[in-house]
Amino acid sequence: MPAAPKPDILAAFEAAKGFMPTDEGLALYAAAVEAGRLGLPLLEVGTYCGRSTVLLADAARQAGVTALTVDHHRGSEEQQPGWDYHDPETVDPETGLMDTLPAFRRTLHRAGLEEHVVALVGRSPQIAAIWNSPLGLVFVDGGHTDEHANADYEGWAPHVAEGGVLVIHDVFPEPLDEFTGQAPYRVYLRALESGDFTEISVTGSLRVLRRTRATAPAPR
Ligand SMILES: C[S@@+](CC[C@H](N)C(=O)[O-])C[C@H]1O[C@@H](n2cnc3c(N)ncnc32)[C@H](O)[C@@H]1O
Repeated sequence: MPAAPKPDILAAFEAAKGFMPTDEGLALYAAAVEAGRLGLPLLEVGTYCGRSTVLLADAARQAGVTALTVDHHRGSEEQQPGWDYHDPETVDPETGLMDTLPAFRRTLHRAGLEEHVVALVGRSPQIAAIWNSPLGLVFVDGGHTDEHANADYEGWAPHVAEGGVLVIHDVFPEPLDEFTGQAPYRVYLRALESGDFTEISVTGSLRVLRRTRATAPAPR
Protein backbone atom coordinates (compact mmCIF):
# COMPACT_ATOMS: atom_id res chain seq x y z
CA MET A 1 0.00 0.00 0.00
CA PRO A 2 1.45 3.41 -0.89
CA ALA A 3 1.90 5.75 2.09
CA ALA A 4 -1.03 8.16 2.57
CA PRO A 5 -1.12 11.40 4.57
CA LYS A 6 -3.07 11.58 7.84
CA PRO A 7 -6.42 13.42 7.61
CA ASP A 8 -5.07 16.68 9.13
CA ILE A 9 -2.25 16.85 6.55
CA LEU A 10 -4.60 16.05 3.69
CA ALA A 11 -6.99 18.73 4.96
CA ALA A 12 -4.14 21.30 5.11
CA PHE A 13 -3.15 20.42 1.54
CA GLU A 14 -6.72 20.71 0.29
CA ALA A 15 -7.28 24.02 2.14
CA ALA A 16 -4.17 25.64 0.64
CA LYS A 17 -4.38 27.81 -2.47
CA GLY A 18 -2.98 25.99 -5.47
CA PHE A 19 -3.69 23.89 -8.48
CA MET A 20 -2.76 20.32 -7.61
CA PRO A 21 -5.69 17.87 -7.50
CA THR A 22 -5.86 15.43 -4.58
CA ASP A 23 -5.05 12.27 -6.57
CA GLU A 24 -1.81 13.85 -7.77
CA GLY A 25 -1.03 15.06 -4.26
CA LEU A 26 -1.41 11.53 -2.94
CA ALA A 27 0.98 10.21 -5.59
CA LEU A 28 3.50 12.95 -4.74
CA TYR A 29 3.20 12.11 -1.05
CA ALA A 30 3.76 8.39 -1.61
CA ALA A 31 6.84 9.14 -3.73
CA ALA A 32 8.18 11.55 -1.10
CA VAL A 33 7.74 9.08 1.77
CA GLU A 34 9.58 6.42 -0.22
CA ALA A 35 12.34 8.83 -1.25
CA GLY A 36 12.69 9.96 2.37
CA ARG A 37 14.16 6.54 3.19
CA LEU A 38 17.39 7.66 1.53
CA GLY A 39 17.83 10.14 4.37
CA LEU A 40 18.43 13.04 1.99
CA PRO A 41 16.55 16.37 1.63
CA LEU A 42 13.45 16.58 -0.56
CA LEU A 43 13.38 19.60 -2.88
CA GLU A 44 10.57 21.24 -4.80
CA VAL A 45 10.81 23.89 -7.51
CA GLY A 46 7.62 25.97 -7.47
CA THR A 47 6.29 26.69 -3.97
CA TYR A 48 3.45 29.08 -4.88
CA CYS A 49 1.26 29.14 -1.72
CA GLY A 50 2.60 25.89 -0.28
CA ARG A 51 -0.06 23.40 -1.31
CA SER A 52 2.34 20.66 -2.44
CA THR A 53 4.93 21.79 0.14
CA VAL A 54 2.62 20.59 2.93
CA LEU A 55 2.91 17.03 1.61
CA LEU A 56 6.68 17.16 1.12
CA ALA A 57 7.09 18.69 4.59
CA ASP A 58 5.12 15.92 6.24
CA ALA A 59 7.08 13.25 4.35
CA ALA A 60 10.31 15.01 5.39
CA ARG A 61 9.17 15.13 9.02
CA GLN A 62 8.57 11.37 9.00
CA ALA A 63 11.98 10.70 7.46
CA GLY A 64 13.82 13.13 9.73
CA VAL A 65 15.03 15.15 6.76
CA THR A 66 14.34 18.69 5.51
CA ALA A 67 12.02 19.77 2.71
CA LEU A 68 13.43 22.56 0.55
CA THR A 69 11.23 24.67 -1.63
CA VAL A 70 12.41 27.11 -4.31
CA ASP A 71 10.39 30.05 -5.67
CA HIS A 72 10.92 33.73 -6.40
CA HIS A 73 7.28 34.16 -5.31
CA ARG A 74 6.52 36.52 -8.18
CA GLY A 75 4.40 33.97 -10.05
CA SER A 76 4.76 32.20 -13.36
CA GLU A 77 3.78 33.70 -16.70
CA GLU A 78 0.26 32.21 -16.65
CA GLN A 79 -0.35 33.51 -13.10
CA GLN A 80 0.20 37.18 -13.95
CA PRO A 81 -2.68 39.70 -14.05
CA GLY A 82 -4.83 39.18 -17.12
CA TRP A 83 -3.95 35.51 -17.45
CA ASP A 84 -6.19 32.54 -16.75
CA TYR A 85 -4.43 31.32 -13.60
CA HIS A 86 -4.21 34.75 -11.96
CA ASP A 87 -5.50 35.15 -8.40
CA PRO A 88 -5.85 38.84 -7.42
CA GLU A 89 -5.40 37.91 -3.74
CA THR A 90 -1.75 37.09 -4.47
CA VAL A 91 -0.91 40.69 -5.45
CA ASP A 92 0.99 42.84 -2.93
CA PRO A 93 -0.93 46.15 -2.90
CA GLU A 94 2.23 48.13 -2.12
CA THR A 95 4.34 46.90 -5.02
CA GLY A 96 1.54 45.85 -7.36
CA LEU A 97 3.50 42.63 -7.94
CA MET A 98 2.53 39.08 -7.09
CA ASP A 99 3.92 37.92 -3.76
CA THR A 100 2.94 34.42 -2.70
CA LEU A 101 5.41 34.26 0.20
CA PRO A 102 2.94 35.45 2.90
CA ALA A 103 0.29 32.92 1.83
CA PHE A 104 2.94 30.17 1.75
CA ARG A 105 4.03 31.02 5.29
CA ARG A 106 0.43 30.97 6.50
CA THR A 107 -0.13 27.56 4.87
CA LEU A 108 2.87 26.03 6.63
CA HIS A 109 2.03 27.65 9.95
CA ARG A 110 -1.55 26.35 9.84
CA ALA A 111 -0.27 22.86 9.02
CA GLY A 112 2.23 22.98 11.92
CA LEU A 113 5.08 22.14 9.54
CA GLU A 114 7.25 25.28 9.58
CA GLU A 115 10.24 23.64 11.24
CA HIS A 116 10.52 20.95 8.55
CA VAL A 117 10.88 23.34 5.62
CA VAL A 118 13.56 25.69 4.34
CA ALA A 119 12.24 28.17 1.80
CA LEU A 120 14.75 29.25 -0.82
CA VAL A 121 13.48 32.54 -2.22
CA GLY A 122 15.00 33.30 -5.59
CA ARG A 123 15.30 32.19 -9.17
CA SER A 124 15.63 28.47 -9.59
CA PRO A 125 18.66 28.48 -11.98
CA GLN A 126 20.51 30.92 -9.72
CA ILE A 127 20.00 28.68 -6.66
CA ALA A 128 20.73 25.49 -8.62
CA ALA A 129 24.03 27.00 -9.79
CA ILE A 130 25.31 27.13 -6.21
CA TRP A 131 23.72 23.87 -5.03
CA ASN A 132 26.13 21.01 -4.47
CA SER A 133 24.58 18.18 -2.48
CA PRO A 134 22.53 15.09 -3.25
CA LEU A 135 18.75 15.08 -2.93
CA GLY A 136 16.33 12.22 -2.32
CA LEU A 137 13.58 13.84 -4.38
CA VAL A 138 13.30 16.70 -6.85
CA PHE A 139 9.77 17.86 -7.67
CA VAL A 140 9.66 20.11 -10.74
CA ASP A 141 6.64 22.44 -10.70
CA GLY A 142 8.12 25.84 -11.53
CA GLY A 143 7.89 27.88 -14.72
CA HIS A 144 6.22 26.02 -17.56
CA THR A 145 7.99 27.59 -20.54
CA ASP A 146 10.65 25.51 -22.31
CA GLU A 147 13.31 27.88 -21.01
CA HIS A 148 12.27 27.45 -17.36
CA ALA A 149 11.39 23.74 -17.49
CA ASN A 150 14.70 22.88 -19.18
CA ALA A 151 16.68 25.05 -16.74
CA ASP A 152 14.98 23.32 -13.81
CA TYR A 153 15.76 19.90 -15.25
CA GLU A 154 19.37 20.77 -16.02
CA GLY A 155 19.89 22.52 -12.69
CA TRP A 156 18.28 20.04 -10.34
CA ALA A 157 17.97 16.54 -11.89
CA PRO A 158 21.74 15.91 -11.63
CA HIS A 159 21.41 16.21 -7.83
CA VAL A 160 18.88 13.36 -7.54
CA ALA A 161 20.77 10.54 -5.81
CA GLU A 162 20.71 7.03 -7.26
CA GLY A 163 17.46 5.42 -6.03
CA GLY A 164 15.94 8.88 -5.51
CA VAL A 165 13.04 10.27 -7.51
CA LEU A 166 12.39 13.01 -10.03
CA VAL A 167 8.73 14.07 -10.03
CA ILE A 168 7.42 16.24 -12.87
CA HIS A 169 4.08 18.03 -12.75
CA ASP A 170 1.79 19.18 -15.58
CA VAL A 171 2.93 16.58 -18.08
CA PHE A 172 0.40 16.73 -20.91
CA PRO A 173 1.17 14.54 -23.95
CA GLU A 174 -1.64 16.42 -25.76
CA PRO A 175 -2.15 20.20 -25.41
CA LEU A 176 -4.85 20.78 -22.75
CA ASP A 177 -5.85 24.33 -23.65
CA GLU A 178 -4.29 27.53 -24.96
CA PHE A 179 -2.75 28.31 -21.54
CA THR A 180 -1.21 24.94 -20.74
CA GLY A 181 1.98 24.28 -22.66
CA GLN A 182 3.86 21.05 -23.13
CA ALA A 183 7.30 22.03 -21.86
CA PRO A 184 6.99 19.72 -18.80
CA TYR A 185 6.09 16.88 -21.18
CA ARG A 186 9.21 17.55 -23.26
CA VAL A 187 11.34 17.57 -20.10
CA TYR A 188 9.75 14.28 -19.00
CA LEU A 189 10.70 12.75 -22.38
CA ARG A 190 14.19 14.17 -21.99
CA ALA A 191 14.57 12.52 -18.58
CA LEU A 192 13.46 9.14 -19.93
CA GLU A 193 15.64 9.45 -23.03
CA SER A 194 18.68 10.22 -20.87
CA GLY A 195 18.57 6.59 -19.71
CA ASP A 196 19.16 7.82 -16.14
CA PHE A 197 15.53 7.59 -15.01
CA THR A 198 12.81 4.91 -15.08
CA GLU A 199 9.13 5.71 -14.77
CA ILE A 200 7.48 4.31 -11.67
CA SER A 201 4.04 5.94 -11.66
CA VAL A 202 1.62 8.06 -13.67
CA THR A 203 -1.22 9.91 -11.91
CA GLY A 204 -3.08 12.56 -13.86
CA SER A 205 -0.37 14.93 -15.08
CA LEU A 206 2.13 13.81 -12.41
CA ARG A 207 5.02 11.55 -13.40
CA VAL A 208 7.29 9.87 -10.88
CA LEU A 209 10.66 8.69 -12.21
CA ARG A 210 13.39 6.90 -10.26
CA ARG A 211 17.06 7.50 -10.87
CA THR A 212 18.32 4.07 -11.89
CA ARG A 213 21.70 5.23 -13.19
CA ALA A 214 24.16 7.56 -11.48
CA THR A 215 24.81 10.97 -13.03
CA ALA A 216 27.75 10.92 -15.41
CA PRO A 217 30.66 12.92 -13.98
CA ALA A 218 30.92 16.43 -15.39
CA PRO A 219 33.49 16.71 -18.23
CA ARG A 220 36.81 18.23 -17.13
C1 LIG B 1 2.50 26.07 -10.73
S1 LIG B 1 3.13 27.08 -9.45
C2 LIG B 1 3.62 25.91 -8.22
C3 LIG B 1 2.43 25.23 -7.59
C4 LIG B 1 2.72 24.50 -6.29
N1 LIG B 1 3.69 23.45 -6.46
C5 LIG B 1 1.43 23.96 -5.72
O1 LIG B 1 1.29 22.74 -5.58
O2 LIG B 1 0.52 24.73 -5.44
C6 LIG B 1 4.68 27.58 -10.15
C7 LIG B 1 5.53 28.47 -9.23
O3 LIG B 1 6.83 28.50 -9.81
C8 LIG B 1 7.40 29.77 -9.58
N2 LIG B 1 8.43 30.00 -10.59
C9 LIG B 1 8.29 30.08 -11.93
N3 LIG B 1 9.46 30.24 -12.54
C10 LIG B 1 10.39 30.26 -11.54
C11 LIG B 1 11.82 30.40 -11.52
N4 LIG B 1 12.53 30.53 -12.65
N5 LIG B 1 12.43 30.38 -10.33
C12 LIG B 1 11.74 30.26 -9.18
N6 LIG B 1 10.40 30.10 -9.14
C13 LIG B 1 9.74 30.11 -10.30
C14 LIG B 1 6.24 30.73 -9.64
O4 LIG B 1 6.53 31.91 -8.91
C15 LIG B 1 5.08 29.90 -9.09
O5 LIG B 1 4.84 30.20 -7.73
